[in-house]
Amino acid sequence: MDIFRIEGPVRLCGSVTINGSKNASLPIMAASILAGGKSTLSAVPNLSDISVFSQLLEQLGCCVTRSDNGQLCIDSTVIDNPVGDYEIVRKMRASICILGPLLARYGKAKVSMPGGCAIGDRPVNLHIRGLQELGAQIHLKNGYIIAEAPNGLRGKEIFLGGPFGSTVLGTANVLMAAALAKGRTIIESAACEPEIADLAKYLNKMGAKISGIGSPRLVIEGVGHLQPVDYEVIPDRIEAGTFMVAAAITAGEITITNCRLDDMMAVVDRLRHIGVTIDPLLSRPPPRLASGDAGAGESKNGVVVTCSDGVKPADITTQPYPGFPTDLQAQFMALLSLAEGNSVIIEKVFPDRFMHVAELNRMAANLRKEGPAVIVAGVEKLMAASVMASDLRASAALVLAGLAAEGITIVNRVYHIDRGYEKIEKRLNPLGAKIKRKQIKGV
Ligand code: EPZ
Repeated sequence: MDIFRIEGPVRLCGSVTINGSKNASLPIMAASILAGGKSTLSAVPNLSDISVFSQLLEQLGCCVTRSDNGQLCIDSTVIDNPVGDYEIVRKMRASICILGPLLARYGKAKVSMPGGCAIGDRPVNLHIRGLQELGAQIHLKNGYIIAEAPNGLRGKEIFLGGPFGSTVLGTANVLMAAALAKGRTIIESAACEPEIADLAKYLNKMGAKISGIGSPRLVIEGVGHLQPVDYEVIPDRIEAGTFMVAAAITAGEITITNCRLDDMMAVVDRLRHIGVTIDPLLSRPPPRLASGDAGAGESKNGVVVTCSDGVKPADITTQPYPGFPTDLQAQFMALLSLAEGNSVIIEKVFPDRFMHVAELNRMAANLRKEGPAVIVAGVEKLMAASVMASDLRASAALVLAGLAAEGITIVNRVYHIDRGYEKIEKRLNPLGAKIKRKQIKGV
């Protein structure tokens, strides 16, 4: 198992290009099942989650290869085993989003219940309810979801909201199934995340008829079949936010290209409140909109992120998009640990997503959990320590804290971070980080 040895404090300076979005890639890979044939996906990051999902598609009968220029080629002509095996699903919850496309194309699916993970329970009741509304017969047996639609799926008006608001992968599952259902489907309280909008655009390119993209009300006119297509996934807004925090927590200056500020308004709002400067990297004037207003085009070229006047406290509440993303909560907690004052972070999407609190406190942060909130009392500096990664984003927070802490920080179980960040040390070290990956035998 690998560990990171991180020497701090450092000041990061330089430029980094954001990779394609993991959370757009996974449902789009699942959607390729809907059309028999060869799909070529570009900008899909080279991550362990993507490899695991590729294994899952191959288990179904697909052929998945990476071309020399990094494109992901999926041949879904033959799917002769519509089963999502526990051994794979337990490693990655997103596997659940093969359920909808398998039902839509084959009329049956058997997918392991995902189970929980470090960020809390991961129920799929909304996925199941949405698919049942479309006419699927679903029951649970020996930890598996057994789904059948012998007479096909039929469009329906579906309210998909849950106690925590919308569901990202639940929307993906129902959207993919509805694309091939007979008649019209309306998904009310659909997830508005950019990754779901990207999935909908991919499906429309395949021949689906989806409107309301990016809104909480999706309208889908079912079609008879879909074509395999080539597609490029959007940049990863969570990776972009992570690098922005890296610039801020080290009082550095990082130019971040291939990032879409339009997808990150809540994040940019909090960063600016904290005292972080985010200037568009203007290589050409932004395009003029019909209204004559300056477009957001400048964000397409990237941004320069600096934080030279100290970190100010801020209150953050995570919410479904367009609210502040839960996937950046841990990273911002590391940053606010160094603020000149107290902050409050409330986690409204995954109320248990605080495994990083104890680890950051080991680094001399001053964090106190109060139910779904954490009171962050800013400290002058963090101290290096040996810490344990628990989930993908908590691990990123520990790495960021290690960049700012005085001394040598050891982050254990680095495999968590490899799930969502492609060789992060090879992207941070050229900016001035001092991170060494070491393999620890037998751990
Ligand atoms: C997606 O997970 C992301 N994963 C997560 O990112 C992200 O944290 C999450 O959305 C929220 O934005 C991928 O896209 C692969 P949800 P998902 O269904 O779809 C409850 C990362 O770090 N809920 O939107 O599984 C659920 O318990 C990962 O990249 C139900 O109650 O999340 C949670 O409280 C971690 N019933 C809330 O809804 C359901 O049937 C939001 O979950 C489904 C969800």
